[in-house]
Amino acid sequence: MPSTVLRSRQRDARDLVTRRTCDDVPMTWFESPADVATRLQAAGYLADAATATTAFLAGALEKPLLLEGPAGVGKTELAKAVSRATGADLVRLQCYEGLDEARALYEWNYKKQLLRIQATNADDLDWTRTHDEIFTEEFLLTRPLLTAIRRDEPTVLLIDEVDKTDVEVEGLLLEVLSDFQVTIPELGTVAAVRRPYVVLTSNASRELSEAVKRRCLYLHLDYPDAAREREILLSQVPDLDDRIAEQLVATVGRLRDLELKKAPSIAESVDWARTLLALEIRDLDEKAVADTLGVVLKHASDHERAVRELKLAKS
Ligand SMILES: Nc1ncnc2c1ncn2[C@@H]1O[C@H](COP(=O)(O)OP(=O)(O)O)[C@@H](O)[C@H]1O
Ligand SMILES: [Mg+2]
Repeated sequence: MPSTVLRSRQRDARDLVTRRTCDDVPMTWFESPADVATRLQAAGYLADAATATTAFLAGALEKPLLLEGPAGVGKTELAKAVSRATGADLVRLQCYEGLDEARALYEWNYKKQLLRIQATNADDLDWTRTHDEIFTEEFLLTRPLLTAIRRDEPTVLLIDEVDKTDVEVEGLLLEVLSDFQVTIPELGTVAAVRRPYVVLTSNASRELSEAVKRRCLYLHLDYPDAAREREILLSQVPDLDDRIAEQLVATVGRLRDLELKKAPSIAESVDWARTLLALEIRDLDEKAVADTLGVVLKHASDHERAVRELKLAKS
């Protein structure tokens, strides 16, 4: 390889690694668990003591936070609320079956690379030089994991619904989560100067590997108790009447005790509260419940069971 090309490649790799060091001010995410609770509340998220403590530690120890629990209990929202409360931008990697490195980490912009090759005069085509040119920053498409690692500014990295990916993706996450660095063979290793605040969420549809768990702080989020759920409802639907909030939370609690395919989550309680408000229902009696049950239960069999067990009048 000609030495000029080698030098330019080395410079490119070095730029990738070091260009962020200039304003490397360490980020204090939160002062204390109480600070977490106050600031998250101001950002619209009501955290209990365990959540506030774990969220504090994730920042203080710079460890990823793994949130596990049923759907709709506020896992994703916690990451968003940390971002709102701290002013850090949110970078989100939504996981799904078939997610691969090219979508999670980075890929080369093949179209642009091809165009560059075509644009190079055939007579001048020196393959080594062209190869070195097209594997540079200009042709790199960064995906959420690499984006989060490379950012100068404080960042909350949300890796949402990790349990939906294939197990192989966890290997990829491990490199990022253990060293906060990514190796790009053509460019070198990109290490984070400023570690992002990382939140992983899982609905526990499968067990995550022990290796991933070892690197994370773990918090199981579950349905809140009645008092907290009422607070959440009143904070999100401030016009809701106190009495109906109480009735709603009690009914949702009873529904959760039934063996349903899909128990109502906080998101559904909030939807229900909005529905009752829109319909100007002031008393959540049996008829009102029966009329609006579709907002909280999304399976016919759950609907039937609830009607039977709660002895609701058929609407
Ligand atoms: N502690 C909380 N404080 C305020 N709102 C909450 C809280 N927990 C859940 N919510 C509400 O529930 C909705 C669903 O939560 P989400 O984070 O999407 O659930 P999931 O656990 O499935 O990621 C949120 O949009 C938010 O409105
Ligand atoms: Mg979610």
